[in-house]
Amino acid sequence: MGSLAVLVLAAGKGTRMKSDLVKVLHPVAGTPMLCFSLDLARSLHPDRLVVVVGFQRDLVRQRFSAPDIIFADQEEQLGTGHAVSVARQDLKDLEGTVLILCADVPLLTEGTVKKLLQAHEDGGATLSVLTTMPQNPGGYGRVVRGEDGLLLRIVEDKDLRAGEEKIREINTGIYAVEAKFLFSALGSLSAQNAQKEYYLTDIVEKASSQGKKAQACLAEDPFEVMGINSRLDLAKASQVLRQKIAEHHMMAGVTLIDPLMTYIDRGVEIGKDTVIYPNCYLLGKTSLGEGCLVEPGCKLTDTRMGNFVTIKTSSVISESVIEDRVEVGPFAHLRPLTVLREGAKIGNFVEVKKSVIGKGTKANHLSYIGDATLGEKVNVGAGTITCNYNGRKKHQTIIEDGVFVGSNTELVAPVKIGRGAIIGAGSTITKEVPPETLAISRAKQEHYRKRNLRKD
Ligand code: UD1
Ligand code: CA
Repeated sequence: MGSLAVLVLAAGKGTRMKSDLVKVLHPVAGTPMLCFSLDLARSLHPDRLVVVVGFQRDLVRQRFSAPDIIFADQEEQLGTGHAVSVARQDLKDLEGTVLILCADVPLLTEGTVKKLLQAHEDGGATLSVLTTMPQNPGGYGRVVRGEDGLLLRIVEDKDLRAGEEKIREINTGIYAVEAKFLFSALGSLSAQNAQKEYYLTDIVEKASSQGKKAQACLAEDPFEVMGINSRLDLAKASQVLRQKIAEHHMMAGVTLIDPLMTYIDRGVEIGKDTVIYPNCYLLGKTSLGEGCLVEPGCKLTDTRMGNFVTIKTSSVISESVIEDRVEVGPFAHLRPLTVLREGAKIGNFVEVKKSVIGKGTKANHLSYIGDATLGEKVNVGAGTITCNYNGRKKHQTIIEDGVFVGSNTELVAPVKIGRGAIIGAGSTITKEVPPETLAISRAKQEHYRKRNLRKD
C-alpha cells in the first residue's frame, strides 16, 4: 500500500449549526468533535497527519496543536475539494494512500476505517469511498454505481436529478485515495453546481471517466457514519455515543439505574459493583473505584475516587481526590484541589476548597473549609468557617489530629490548632491554639432578673 497519510477536513464554519463557534469544536457527549477524528487517525499510526483548518483556525490550532499534526490553512471555505487541495504541499510527494476523514463524522470506528483501507488495498482501487444506507438519505451525497457495481459518480443532495433521490446509498465523506491521482484530479475541479463549491465528491467521476477503479465499501451501521450538520444531528450523535458508553460500563459490571439518564464522558473509568443513580454527570478525567454509590443528581468533574465511596444526592465535585470509604453529601460542594483521605465524611451544605481532610475526619453540617489542612479524626462542628480571605490574600488554616471544633466557630487564617485541642462553640479564633488546650473566645453569658430590667 505504500505510505499512509490521514487528512482531516475541519475548516468549515458549519453554517447549519447556527453558532458563533466553529462546528468541529462543538462537543459530542462532552468531547469536542475534532478529538474523535484525531484519536482515530492516531490509532492508525499514519506517516503523516494533516488537519485542514479555516474558520476560527487559531482557536482550533490552540486547542489541538501537537508535534504530530501538520495544520494546513484554508483561508476561504470554498468546498471540500478546495479543502483537500490546500494540503497539496504537505502530501503531493506521498507514495501511497491518503485517508480523508471529515471531522463532522465523530462516531466512526477504527474497525470500519481499517475495513475501508483493507478493501482499498485488496481491490487495487484508485479510490474507495465509505458508503452506507441510512433510513433517510436526505441531505447526503448519493452514490451512483454502474452495472459492474463500481462507482460512476456522487451527486450532492442539492444537485439531484429526477430519479436520483430514490438512491438510498449515500457518501459518508470518508475516502481512501491514491495520493498522485487525488492531487491531479483536484486540479481540474469546477464549482459549477448548486452550491458554487469545489466538491471533493467530483473526483469519483474523474476516476471512473479515466478508467480508474473507484469502488464503494459499505458501512453497515448508518449511525456510526452519520455526519453532524445541525444541533439536531449533534443531539442524536451524543445520544448514540452515550448509549455506547453506558453499555460498555454495564458490560464491565457497573449498575446504571437508568442508562439513558446518566451522562458519562468518554474516557471516564468506573470499577465494578459501583451503582450510579439517574441524572448524574461523570465528566472529564473522572475515575471511580469499585463498590461506590453515586446517588441521584450528582456532578463529578475531573475527580479521582477510590473504592466504596458514597456520594449522596445533589453533590457537586470537581478536580478532587477522594480516598476509600469516604462519604460525601447530600448537597456537598467539593471545589478544585480537595483531598479527602480514607474514611472522611463531608456532610450536607459543606463546601470544601483546596484543602486536605485527614483520615476519619468529619465535617457533617453547614461549613466552609478553604485553604486548610485537617489532620486525622478531627471533628468539625456545624457552621464552622475557615476565614481564609482577608480581602487581599488567601491564608492557611491548619488543624492537627484529634481536634474538636465546636459549632459555629470562625477560624481566622492564618491560624493553627494544635493536636487534641478543643474549641468552644461560637468562638472566633485568631491566635494559634496550643495542643491539648481548650480555647474559647465567646462573650460570657450573663443573667439578669427580669423584674430588674429597666423599661423604656
Ligand atoms: C459532504 C459530502 C457529501 C456527504 C457528506 C457526509 C461533499 C461535496 N459532500 O457533504 O457527499 O454525503 O459530506 O457527511 O464533499 N470542510 C472544509 N472546508 C470547506 C468545506 C467543508 O474543511 O470548504 C469540511 C467541514 O469542516 C466538514 C467536512 O469538510 O468537516 C464536510 O463538510 P460539509 O459542508 O459538512 O459537507 P456536507 O454538505 O455534509
Ligand atoms: Ca457534513
